[in-house]
Amino acid sequence: MELLNTLRWRYATKAMNGQLVEQDKIEAILEAIRLAPTSSGLQPFEVIIVTDPEVKKKIRAVAANQSVVEDCSHLLVFAAWDNYTESRINAYFEEMVKQRGFDERMDNYRKFLLGNYTGRPAGLNYEHAARQAYIAFGIAIVAAAEQRLDATPMEGFDPAGVDEILNLKERGLKSVTLLPVGFRDEGNDWMVNVPKVRKPKEQLFSFVK
Ligand SMILES: Cc1cc2nc3c(=O)[nH]c(=O)nc-3n(C[C@H](O)[C@H](O)[C@H](O)COP(=O)(O)O)c2cc1C
Repeated sequence: MELLNTLRWRYATKAMNGQLVEQDKIEAILEAIRLAPTSSGLQPFEVIIVTDPEVKKKIRAVAANQSVVEDCSHLLVFAAWDNYTESRINAYFEEMVKQRGFDERMDNYRKFLLGNYTGRPAGLNYEHAARQAYIAFGIAIVAAAEQRLDATPMEGFDPAGVDEILNLKERGLKSVTLLPVGFRDEGNDWMVNVPKVRKPKEQLFSFVK
């Protein structure tokens, strides 16, 4: 039940103390992100890790002035592909051929995906890609907590502002979520000992037997 204890320990931290997180712990979070499952395995997102204080400051300004953006150790920016393109889909399958060898079934699947995605509106594809980024985002939250690192899942920011600060448009990316990672500032975080509010099981689960 270690996972449940970890989930009970974590909370959306509102104040961090600026202390630096050891690199190996950051690497462990990044590896968890890398291992996250995604639809068709395409991993249609990137994560930008910001430690530059000036850049963090600029992002805070477009993130409702939330202090953890600046006072975290590492700011993870989850950014999804703005579209599924032929070259992006083919690149994934080329990598698969390198690692697993050619497989006709997978090549047929590649063609199926090209047919499925490349004709659709970019906005629809972006929404799908963003949902994949959310899966990795959730796993990153847990991976941070596993190492007793604090993290604040964040949607409260202006994505266009973050995209501009990080030049994401040129990279065919759009920011989806932020995850400041660091250490809680217990003295200044009123949320630190506040009990979790969660729905009772009866409201969340129903069973078809
Ligand atoms: C997708 C997402 C976006 C969120 N955005 C913010 C945010 O911008 N700022 C913030 O302080 N908390 C944010 N939260 C934190 C939630 O308010 C918090 O997770 C929720 O109230 C449950 O509390 P807990 O995480 O402390 O258990 C966000 C959480 C998620 C999952």
